[in-house]
Amino acid sequence: MNASPLVQTEPSGKAKAPAARVQVAEPFTVVIFGITGALAGGKLLPALFSLWRNDYFPHSFVIVGVGRREKSDAQLRADLREAAQAHGGLPAELGEAWDRFAASLFYHRADFAVAEGYPALAGRLQALEKERGLTGNRLYYLATDPEAFPVIVEQLADAKLLHREPGLPWTRVVIEKPFGKDLASARTLDQHILRFLREEQIYRIDHYLGKETVQNLLSFRFGNAIFEPVFNRRYVDHVQITMAESVGMEGPRAFYDRAGALRDVVQNHLLQLLAFVAMEPPITLAAKEIRDEKVKVLDSLSPGDPGDINRWVVRGQYGAGHMDGEPVRGYREEEGVPDGSTTETYVALRLGVETWRWAGVPFLLRAGKRLAERETEIVVGFKRPPLRLFTRVPRDGDLGDRTCQCMDVCKCAIAQVEPSTLVFRIQPDEGISLSVSAKRPGMQLALQPVRMDFRYDESFRQAMPKAYERLLLDALRGDSTLFMRSEEVMAAWGFVTPILEAWHQQPSPRFPNYAAGSWGPAEADGLKDGCQRGWRQP
Ligand code: BG6
Repeated sequence: MNASPLVQTEPSGKAKAPAARVQVAEPFTVVIFGITGALAGGKLLPALFSLWRNDYFPHSFVIVGVGRREKSDAQLRADLREAAQAHGGLPAELGEAWDRFAASLFYHRADFAVAEGYPALAGRLQALEKERGLTGNRLYYLATDPEAFPVIVEQLADAKLLHREPGLPWTRVVIEKPFGKDLASARTLDQHILRFLREEQIYRIDHYLGKETVQNLLSFRFGNAIFEPVFNRRYVDHVQITMAESVGMEGPRAFYDRAGALRDVVQNHLLQLLAFVAMEPPITLAAKEIRDEKVKVLDSLSPGDPGDINRWVVRGQYGAGHMDGEPVRGYREEEGVPDGSTTETYVALRLGVETWRWAGVPFLLRAGKRLAERETEIVVGFKRPPLRLFTRVPRDGDLGDRTCQCMDVCKCAIAQVEPSTLVFRIQPDEGISLSVSAKRPGMQLALQPVRMDFRYDESFRQAMPKAYERLLLDALRGDSTLFMRSEEVMAAWGFVTPILEAWHQQPSPRFPNYAAGSWGPAEADGLKDGCQRGWRQP
């Protein structure tokens, strides 16, 4: 989306605060483990900077980055500024504001696995907090390799840096995805960290929930009376959720090759989108009520037959192909990927949601890398009207059972009704469109699909906060609505793990099976059988 940043800037480089806003009330310290990684440099620090610049922060705060490398505070500030400009969208002219923000940014060297480093961290935090007049509210952000999560939590607790007691000063821990690699490991991780923290202190992040368009699913569904009555099996033929990425493998290579698309984005992002689309109206918008409703959806996911998994799950891996006319290499040729890797870079599946509202409605999900376009969208495909009034409209003689396709040129005036669709475009052209049949102007009765379109950039002319901004602000304010509760994570793994196990039993897949720049393996088309339309190609 090309919305220009309409937040006005004061000469100081800080943005003018809009009239009504939420702010972090109490001074705080953020401690980021994995500060030298791509997530911290490209997303977390730009988000914190943006929150500060837009006056969401209190006067006093400190951000401490923890990493293994030797580095000074000054070096960290310079590195993060460079990363924020290169990957986080930090404009060059705000450099001076960055310097003032970065005066609250410090580096602490420690090996996450070594207990001796933690008392030193505790001493550093206390000294900084004393110097800045902070009260000890702390948000720990684990942006490291997932293997390090349990040890960091345990060492923090041993060094008395975590406490379970409610009240001030507060202690919260944000845990990046992936939360485990299957149901058993997720349970083990959960039990481990719950020895040191209460559930309310744990913020399991899924950055998709921070996207404006995802939150708008709730506003759209429950803030309007006209759509909710038709969001059910009586009117909906099927639902499609697509997360197509044009990029190839990015980020830590070893992680992706160990994870694959099912763990990387289906277990979390896609199932969370599904939960928002399929959930019942919560009784209030409180974190508990919304998350209760999401858990019910995730608990009611109905897979196909695990013995016949290839009928309802299709996996793929990209081979060499073309993107924007340029040749690109296949996954196995990517740097750092083992020869003959059988990791899936694409997955499509058909499942059900066995609730009163959705029983029998197919949900088609797909996600892949190196697909033709970057597009995340949810398509609600409605049923055709019950009476096919428009399929045969004889004028110059009876057509019998024949269906005329000519529309324009002949006189028979036959129209084929396309089923209506409602599309939530999550990214990149954020918006919602409803496609309905309308009469085409002219003497004959011919129907044509037309679109009613809402686009964020046209309707709001305001920059949308990035996902991490929203989520960091919420974690600092103690609002966990947009984070995943333990049961949600477990329910999602409970659905995904049998698929992983079934794949494990099967012979190695014949990869690559789709070309970079295509829409994925042809077998995915079979998943739509019985639906009134196939995958929507954006
Ligand atoms: C991450 C995945 O969670 O989401 C990545 O690990 C993926 O593989 C990324 O590329 C996509 O995020 P977005 O916000 O660009 O859609």
